[in-house]
Amino acid sequence: CGIVGIVGTEAAASRLVGSLKRLEYRGYDSAGVATLEGDEICRVRAEGRLAALADKLEKTSLKGTVGIGHTRWATHGAATEGNAHPHATDRVAVVHNGIIENFRPLREELVASGARFQSETDTEVVVHLIDRELQLGRDPVTAVERVLPRLEGAFSLAILFRGHDNLLIGARRGSPLAVGHGDGEMFLGSDAIALAPFTNRVTYLEDGDWVVLSHDDATIRDEAGQVIHRPQQLSQASALMVDKGNHRHFMAKEIHEQPEVVGHTLARYIDFTGETTKLPEDLPFDWTKLSRVVICACGTAYLAGLVAKYWFERYARLPVDIDIASEFRYREMPLDKGGLAIMISQSGETADTLAALRYCKGEGQTVASVVNVPESTIARESHVVFPTVAGPEIGVASTKAFTCQLTVLACLALAAGRARGVLSPDDEKTLVHALAEVPRLMAAALRVEPQIEALAKTLAKAPDALYLGRGTSYPLALEGALKLKEISYIHAEGYAAGELKHGPIALIDETMPVIVIAPHDQIFDKTVSNMQEVAARGGRIILITDAKGAEAATVDAAETIVMPSMPATVTPLVYALPIQLLAYHTAVFMGTDVDQPRNLAKSVTVE
Ligand code: G6P
Repeated sequence: CGIVGIVGTEAAASRLVGSLKRLEYRGYDSAGVATLEGDEICRVRAEGRLAALADKLEKTSLKGTVGIGHTRWATHGAATEGNAHPHATDRVAVVHNGIIENFRPLREELVASGARFQSETDTEVVVHLIDRELQLGRDPVTAVERVLPRLEGAFSLAILFRGHDNLLIGARRGSPLAVGHGDGEMFLGSDAIALAPFTNRVTYLEDGDWVVLSHDDATIRDEAGQVIHRPQQLSQASALMVDKGNHRHFMAKEIHEQPEVVGHTLARYIDFTGETTKLPEDLPFDWTKLSRVVICACGTAYLAGLVAKYWFERYARLPVDIDIASEFRYREMPLDKGGLAIMISQSGETADTLAALRYCKGEGQTVASVVNVPESTIARESHVVFPTVAGPEIGVASTKAFTCQLTVLACLALAAGRARGVLSPDDEKTLVHALAEVPRLMAAALRVEPQIEALAKTLAKAPDALYLGRGTSYPLALEGALKLKEISYIHAEGYAAGELKHGPIALIDETMPVIVIAPHDQIFDKTVSNMQEVAARGGRIILITDAKGAEAATVDAAETIVMPSMPATVTPLVYALPIQLLAYHTAVFMGTDVDQPRNLAKSVTVE
């Protein structure tokens, strides 16, 4: 979810919506605002996309200059208007991101003492707890101070009070929250992007902090209630809204941007003249002293990590333990002090990845993060950040962030290989040279789009699809299946090609499309054997390979998509494009909401 708050000097409602637009990546199943209108709290909420809220607001005449807003990704209670934030009583309104874990006992206690709940959310307990304090005659600051210690979980809050037009209170525990400093105005927002239309002067709250805002002051207290100074920073987040250019969807724009942004990312990690990798000199760890690396991430970022595992192990002889962050954080994995943990995250705000980061730090690991949002929490809490230079990614299904993550990770693996003496200077040169060609190869790969668009029409009719690959094409098979199910809602699974015979082969019949990702590399022949197994059972093969592979494949594919030829190291970067295009065009053909698919959020700040 995304939250925003304004103690301003002009009508707040439309400003809140403008800011919420920029937070929609955090959820978009319902939205709402609350403003102070004279001596009343007025709420307007709507189910569905933000546009629905904006429409409703046009029909009202909210004038209040102090208010809070929210865009929701449902956790407790369905995505209905009744469950949309802000939640409120006559006295207080609250927007909330995260989860109040002990809401059940709190709710029982409140109901027993007469509170009347209007929603199924965990948030509403916060409203009633504060309301009860206010009813007892406590002032808003004392009320919040008394309520915060009763809440368990990871969350951020913005709170509005009736009768107080020079006050907003914000609290951060686990989920991010920042204060924006204006001229005679103060703001709260989940991130600097939300605050950018108002100000670039930002203070990030630390965990446990809460803040009392008035028009010209922000008093921050820490968890113990002590007033504390947190530095003001100048944010780089741009006030300009990114737009789709001449593309129909952000996802299409982002797919097509890849040659360019991967180029930008390479420029940061490669010395093109010397054909060597180029990392900061003062790294807080030493590649030669590492005995293994831990990688943690979620979703598509996790799959980038899975590709990187192959690279680190092959080019740097460095074993990699990789896990999904939500599993890793509770696995109590033993870690030797002084190890390296790499977190990968587009947003830098994913709650599970952040928790894994903190676990690793607690276990004495040096934490490096590969993130796309440089001011994000994960970036700020890491010992060293390797930014991806993808630019803002708006489409919920990650595309350019993925290939930029791969780019950074490839450079890290090569730098590690060089430092550890596994790669000779010449080996490094050859591999760096291959990476440098990726933007050109990507541009060439995009030329298959018309073919894929036609193919998507048949894929759209399939109820299921299977993706197969070996080696670094295996994580890509997982990514292909993930992309397709995320945006077209077609059930899809990715499998290591060699694992086909241990289960999924039972699913194969004439109706089952099987997308095989098989560049003509060392293990190509093995994958061809697996294709044969599919063909023998009547499966419909869509083969993604290069010219040599197309010629060497002894199996009749229903369709062959031919990529340019390239060294095996870089195939995951380039082959990502046809699988993204395939998911994209299938979804477009099916008429789904490509940029904001149902039930998903761009950045998941709950565990
Ligand atoms: C969500 C998004 C995915 C993304 C994952 C991890 O599920 O829909 O596209 O891969 O979160 O997000 P992160 O920002 O940490 O990369």
